Amino acid sequence: MDTDSDTRDEYALITGASSGIGWATALRLAPERKLILHGRDLDRLAATKDACAQSDAHLIWPCDFCAIEDVADSLTKLLAEKAAAVNCFVHSAGMVKVLPMRSTDCWIAQEMMNVNVISATEVLRVLLSKRTNGQHLRGVVFISSIWARFGARGHGMYCATKGALDALMRALAAELAPEVRVNSVLPGAVQTSMAAEGFSDPEIVENLRRDYPLGTGDVADIAEAVEFLLSERAKWVTGHEMVVDGGRTASMSLKGRAMPE
Ligand SMILES: NC(=O)c1ccc[n+]([C@@H]2O[C@H](COP(=O)([O-])OP(=O)(O)OC[C@H]3O[C@@H](n4cnc5c(N)ncnc54)[C@H](OP(=O)(O)O)[C@@H]3O)[C@@H](O)[C@H]2O)c1
Repeated sequence: MDTDSDTRDEYALITGASSGIGWATALRLAPERKLILHGRDLDRLAATKDACAQSDAHLIWPCDFCAIEDVADSLTKLLAEKAAAVNCFVHSAGMVKVLPMRSTDCWIAQEMMNVNVISATEVLRVLLSKRTNGQHLRGVVFISSIWARFGARGHGMYCATKGALDALMRALAAELAPEVRVNSVLPGAVQTSMAAEGFSDPEIVENLRRDYPLGTGDVADIAEAVEFLLSERAKWVTGHEMVVDGGRTASMSLKGRAMPE
């Protein structure tokens, strides 16, 4: 599409906006941007939309990333129907299954790759299509994890998916510059439905208090980093892994305790 005649409204697309870090990112970005809120659960997506500033301006995109072959078509259709273009993409949707490798069959491994990584490449394929999204895309942030950098028992596929996201981020930062900046945020443990089991175990909570020099953080701390990376304040930052973990990785113990981070 000729960008001069492209008068579509611009949106920031947030995957996983129905919950946790995606939800907090939506609330943080909403005062300044129109949003496309992605998730599976329509009630929770509606609740996110209602909780956001300028609630009526935002769109909802329900899509299950397990059905990976439908993702690109579904997003293309939404952008066409709503005459919308996307200038920022935050990939927060993700899943974790804690399993020893002997129980991780190819279907589980593929499901985790689809939801955590391939969904992002399918979304980007649409957002980088000149026909579908013009040349609107400017900023991308992947929500990775500190477990992209460290091992943890039972987290083989989760660590692999987050490591893949960071490697993809660096390659895209090189490929898409100077028009598009691409970065990752690597959170430590924050309380969300994904981490609920860990946070309900008093022993793990005690470990968290000991292992995080700055104490426990929350989803708003992660959203703050995302907002910075998308903003003009970060106009010379691309290809960067921003660790937001209260100092956890700076003081990593060797005892191998695992949280679903
Ligand atoms: N919480 C932590 O301690 C922590 C630490 C490091 C990194 N992370 C990462 O942060 C990101 C957000 O996690 P969170 O902690 O905010 O967890 P969360 O509250 O459980 O949110 C996960 C989000 O992903 C979406 N999602 C899950 N499976 C999906 C699927 N098959 N198709 C489409 N969407 C799907 C969920 O949508 P529905 O609810 O609508 O199904 C939800 O919006 C993840 O990538 C996670 O790996 C979290």
